[in-house]
Amino acid sequence: MSFSIKKGMLMGVATASMQIEGGNCGANWNDWYQRGFIKDGTDPSSANDHWEKWREDTAVMAEMGLEIYRFSVEWARLMPREGEVNEAAVSRYREELELLRENGIKPLLTIHHFSNPMWFETKGAFEKRENLHYYLELVELVVERFGDLCSDYITINEPNVYATNSYFFGEWPPAKKSLGATIAVMENLAYCHIAAYNMIHSMRSSRGYTDTIVGCANHMRVFTPKNEKNLWHRLAAKLSSYLFQDALTKAMTLGVFPVPLRNHGRFPKGEYTDFIGLNYYSRSTVSGIGDGVRENSPRNDLDWEIYPEGIVECASELYKVLPRPIWITENGTCDNADRFRCRYLYEHLKAVSGSELPFERYYHWCFCDNFEWVEGNSAKFGIVEIDPETRERRVKRSGRFYSEIIKNGGVTDEMYEEYVRGLEYRVL
Ligand code: BGC
Repeated sequence: MSFSIKKGMLMGVATASMQIEGGNCGANWNDWYQRGFIKDGTDPSSANDHWEKWREDTAVMAEMGLEIYRFSVEWARLMPREGEVNEAAVSRYREELELLRENGIKPLLTIHHFSNPMWFETKGAFEKRENLHYYLELVELVVERFGDLCSDYITINEPNVYATNSYFFGEWPPAKKSLGATIAVMENLAYCHIAAYNMIHSMRSSRGYTDTIVGCANHMRVFTPKNEKNLWHRLAAKLSSYLFQDALTKAMTLGVFPVPLRNHGRFPKGEYTDFIGLNYYSRSTVSGIGDGVRENSPRNDLDWEIYPEGIVECASELYKVLPRPIWITENGTCDNADRFRCRYLYEHLKAVSGSELPFERYYHWCFCDNFEWVEGNSAKFGIVEIDPETRERRVKRSGRFYSEIIKNGGVTDEMYEEYVRGLEYRVL
């Protein structure tokens, strides 16, 4: 039952600004809430007050023994209006980076994690080529102002999820349902990633830094046919994977734009990532192009299948595109009562530890319960809970388990008995 985590693998947690900071900073998700599109009616501006309580949160992380922390900057806070920089927000992020450093927690900064300032959104955001320079101005600001405190960057979080939820399924702002727009956004995000990759490296190296690491957080799912014997189901699984993730990953990583994506002659082929960033959650079982859940499978509280082997299967697909050290930039589950999360953690970390692939880092999603986009605050992914009234932080049982895993370098038989044995998933 016991296992050791890979020697030298760094362990920590991930968050995103819009999901934990709170406050209305004029972002598209603040607007989306005001327009009534959050399923449970909760408001991101009353998220977790991390903007105010960052010292307390950093202390909890240090207490838990976390070694690394991935978080994002909120574009609308840093640049509340076109061409305008909010110096107070710059200082506040700098202080947080400094405090992390004092506590020996290495930061990984995500420059874009789904949310846009409204001034950028109303111009057509990433759908329009003429807007892309705004994102690069953000990248420049981030490296200019935080580059001395941070060496590791994620340019864009889950470009495929952003493009499909916002422009294909129409569930996220601006809620378009257009294949053409989805493809344009994917192409433009690949452009942004490659340009940012080059820019971050050149800016930091011109200042004498030699430790810069840049990548992207790729959301990957395992796609399997509903019926293995059905040719169409098999084809649909391949096609869904190709359109949702494989083509875009190639474009972002290698500057190779497979159909239906086009490069528009903007970049040469190259190697545009220093690590393989993988956000892994679940598997999709399909009988057509799209998504679906296998019958009789273990489920989390959002009804996503729990499929631990997938973490290695997806990492291995990415590793085939470009062999680089693998960082699990997100992995976690919606478990509202913290009933089975210890088992989920155990099984995913065990799969990673048993693999021959060069896993180097693991960021659990999420540090704390947070604003889960259209689901609102009621979908809980945290290993730390926040009292809705007092805002007090409390480490959950799964948080204590994770902390012990880090301290012990793995799971002992005693820990298995205490935290994992007897935990069952719902099977539907
Ligand atoms: C995103 C997070 C999100 C998590 C759980 C990932 O797709 O990067 O922002 O909260 O999944 O849904």
